[in-house]
Amino acid sequence: MRGRCAAGGGRELTVPTQHVCSLEELPPGSKKIVQHGRATIGVSNVNGSLYAMRNLCPHHGAELCLGNASGTMVPSAPNEWSYDTDEVVVRCPRHRWEFRLKDGRSFTDPERYRVRVYDVTVIDGDVHVEV
Ligand code: FES
Repeated sequence: MRGRCAAGGGRELTVPTQHVCSLEELPPGSKKIVQHGRATIGVSNVNGSLYAMRNLCPHHGAELCLGNASGTMVPSAPNEWSYDTDEVVVRCPRHRWEFRLKDGRSFTDPERYRVRVYDVTVIDGDVHVEV
């Protein structure tokens, strides 16, 4: 599954990776943005789960990962408000579009707008993104 943290004890990676930082440097509620070639990748720790996403909004190219990651409002009956903490999204800082961290799809138009997401692995206390 993309964007999920994998416990890497003893596991050897067979795909290219980008080292991010030590897990201690990425506590819950924090994020890191790392350079990978010409692109940047944002890695977020949301309540202990690690997610990685390309740092480029498909709308107008803002640095998407500078936005806040949190739960979001979900459809509900008229005059009711429903906030889902399991549906974690990042909110673009420019126009506030939301993208699901688990699959990079736009929350409101998932078939049209999508951001690349990456698997995240922790090996020997270091966070890596599988690129
Ligand atoms: S640039 Fe991200 S929502 Fe417009």
